[in-house]
Amino acid sequence: MPRQFFVGGNFKMNPTSREQKENIVKILNDADVDPNTEVVIAPPSLYILPLANILRKDFKVAAQNAYIKTSGAFTGEISPAQLVDAEVPYVILGHSERRTLFGETSELVAQKTRAAIDAGLSVILCIGETLVEREAGQCTQVIEKQLQAVVQVTKEADWSKIVIAYEPVWAIGTGKVATTAQAQEAHSDIRKFLRQAVSSAVAENTRVIYGGSVTAGNCSDLAGQPDVDGFLVGGASLKPEFVNIINSRR
Ligand code: G3H
Repeated sequence: MPRQFFVGGNFKMNPTSREQKENIVKILNDADVDPNTEVVIAPPSLYILPLANILRKDFKVAAQNAYIKTSGAFTGEISPAQLVDAEVPYVILGHSERRTLFGETSELVAQKTRAAIDAGLSVILCIGETLVEREAGQCTQVIEKQLQAVVQVTKEADWSKIVIAYEPVWAIGTGKVATTAQAQEAHSDIRKFLRQAVSSAVAENTRVIYGGSVTAGNCSDLAGQPDVDGFLVGGASLKPEFVNIINSRR
């Protein structure tokens, strides 16, 4: 079965007013979108439920992070169980901003992935190398290490709940998108790793999406690559061009 195209909008710590949030939702709600694309919007946690209430029902919402525990004295955190209770189906984990700015290790990201799946969430698992790592020829090694941590705490069946977002750190928010060849090569390596480390079925069925300076101008070429199953979009998800990105396979 072909993998369903997936487009996520990661709003990060934007927008800064309820009015702006409502404007973005109006653009999305009025848009003519490809019904074959799964669309998931990840606003800041404060806005998840109000946004879900006004968002068209064929789009889903995601949290941008979650903790490893179910409840307790963990000030500032949200638990996977709370997200499930709020009917939030997805969570983004391991985003490079969490890894670099908030010190999240691959082991913690793996623990969070385990906890999220146990609670019933689906996970958008972000991985990717820095520019220094790419220039040192360590791209595959870095990606495999990030994935290996998750392989160690998951079973084959868990992978049906995981979408892998390959986001080279040097391409995030820089306007420097990966070339189609760079994206295809990394995605193909990820699939090769899954084949060896988990199973052929998981390698074939797991969606591997690309993130990093995706725009309306570059999305079609990237979407045409055989191992690119969609996008995780930051900056452009807050603009009308996000609709073009959702429709990049149409
Ligand atoms: O999660 C999204 C990525 O960090 C990409 O962000 O599209 O602003 O480069 P960007």
